[in-house]
This record gives sequence, C-alpha cells and structure tokens, in this order.
Amino acid sequence: MHPILDPGPALLAEAGCEVFPHPDGDPLTEEAIRRQVQEHGCQGIVSQVMDPLGELVLSTPGLRIVSNVAVGFDNIDVAAATRHGVMATHTPGVLTDTTADFAFALMMAAARRVAEGDRYMRAGRFRSWAIDMLLGHDVWGATLGLVGVGRIGGAVARRARGFAMRILYTDSVPLPPDLEHELEATRVDLDTLLAEADFVSLHVPLTPETRHLIGADQLARMKPTAVLVNTSRGPVVDEAALAGALRAGSIFGAGLDVYENEPAVHPDLLELENVVLAPHIASGSVRTRSEMSALAVRNLLAGLRGERPPNLINPEVLA
Ligand code: DGY
Repeated sequence: MHPILDPGPALLAEAGCEVFPHPDGDPLTEEAIRRQVQEHGCQGIVSQVMDPLGELVLSTPGLRIVSNVAVGFDNIDVAAATRHGVMATHTPGVLTDTTADFAFALMMAAARRVAEGDRYMRAGRFRSWAIDMLLGHDVWGATLGLVGVGRIGGAVARRARGFAMRILYTDSVPLPPDLEHELEATRVDLDTLLAEADFVSLHVPLTPETRHLIGADQLARMKPTAVLVNTSRGPVVDEAALAGALRAGSIFGAGLDVYENEPAVHPDLLELENVVLAPHIASGSVRTRSEMSALAVRNLLAGLRGERPPNLINPEVLA
C-alpha cells in the first residue's frame, strides 16, 4: 500500500497486520502490485485512486480483499474481483461535504476569476482599479445544473440553496419527493439542463455510459456565460473538446479537479486563463483524508476477520 494517514497505520498495527508499504508518489503498475502480493503472500491491499487493480492483480492466489481509500472505484475491475472471490470496498460518506465544498470553491473561483486574479497580482499587473477589470459572473441567484445527484451532488445542492440558486438535476433515479421539495430541485433531461444552467457540476461515477458524457455537442448546448465544474472523474469530460470550447469562448470557464489521463493534463488547458485546475484534491481536508484512511482500514480488517465489510461494493462475492 501507499502511505495512508493516522489513525490508519495504528489501526493496522493494533490488529497485528504485517504491512508492506510502497514508496509515496511512486506509481504502481499491475505487474508490480501482483509481484508484491505474491512475494509477501498478502491477503489484503489498501489501494488508492491511482492504483490499477485489474484481472492480473485480482487473480493472485490468496488475495481476499482490496480496500480503496476513495468513494470512486473505477480503478478496480469489480467483476474480476467477484470472479476471483475478492471483496472490494470503498469509503463513501466521510468525504461528501469536503468534496461538495471544493466543487463550490471551483464554481466560485471560475465564475469570479480568482486564480486568474492571483496570477495577475503576482505578475505585478495591478496598477489601478478599473471598472471592467477581470469581470466574472454572479453565483448568487444563478441556475445550477447537477449532473448526478447522489451524496455529493445533493450536498452541493444544499450549499446552492444558501446562494439562492435555482437547482436543476439529471439522474437515472429521481430524488425522493420530500428531498426534491426541500432542495427545490427540478429533474430535467441533460439537454435542458445544459441549455438552462449557469453552472454545470458533474457528480456521476465513471462507467462506460458516463465516459465522455460531456463532449463537443454537450458543450455547444451550454450558455456562453456558463461554467463547467468537474470533481467526479476526468474521462466524464472530453478534455480536448472542453479546451476547444474554452478557447472559442463558447462557455465562460471551467473548474477541474480531475483529468482524462491523470496526472497528465491536456496541454491546451494549461495554456488557457479561463480554467481553474486543481490536482485531485476535492476530498483533501485534514479531517476527511484521515477519516478515509481509518474507514479503509476498518473495511479491510472486517474482511480479513471473515466479517462483512461495512462498505462492500460486491456483496455477491459472499454468496
Ligand atoms: C474519491 O474518493 O473517489 C476521490 O476521487 C478521492 O477522494
């Protein structure tokens, strides 16, 4: 495993686990993970979003559980895990509000040109107040379009209520009527959402259906004053198409925390002023990353003890 945060290591030690760490920041290939698991006879892996866990790893004899320190689990081939009798777990819930805060931060930063203003100041370009300097768009009272309204999308909607925003959403499953009423949220189709929203925020998992959900056609439907925010998974957006739309001014701005070929960023995005770029840190508060570490270890220990882990992704594996 890559290093995790306190109290994760202490919980592992307390349980008497023998831990084989992998140097921080050094990316792991499937081959390298399988080699380690085989060599040390590992029964569990604590994985993170950059660790690929496919057939090669999941078929390693003796492996019983992979515990992802993330709510998203597109780095795990869950079907292969189930086929090989390996439990897969994740860490939902504990990062909801922290991630929603960050989606809101990206929305505001892109709309009000915060990062651009910072670069402007550091370049020594602020010589005098000017009535038309770095003008942005209001968040207060604007229309927010949520693509996916699960835990994190719902938490963004709660924040939006405080900003008097009108809330539109798309989701395969409608919100329960009481929640829809509480959030004053209206379910619409994606085309309507894209055409009417001032801010489009993505909160869907990465699946074959959501890969490139937002491409050139969808960007073309958005308002020229609109902002796109992505804190879900990079490949949900066609990055080349987004760079094209931002360059052409067919949308106003974007705030991204995730990338199509992470950690690489499309080179065209790096050239643009109207996109705020963050290095996949939406869940990165001290408290939340610590809680994610602890929850991942609890999931792992439960599985190793022969109990049902609290956040099991593939319960069918127990059948
Ligand atoms: C997740 O949990 O899926 C994030 O991408 C990392 O916190």
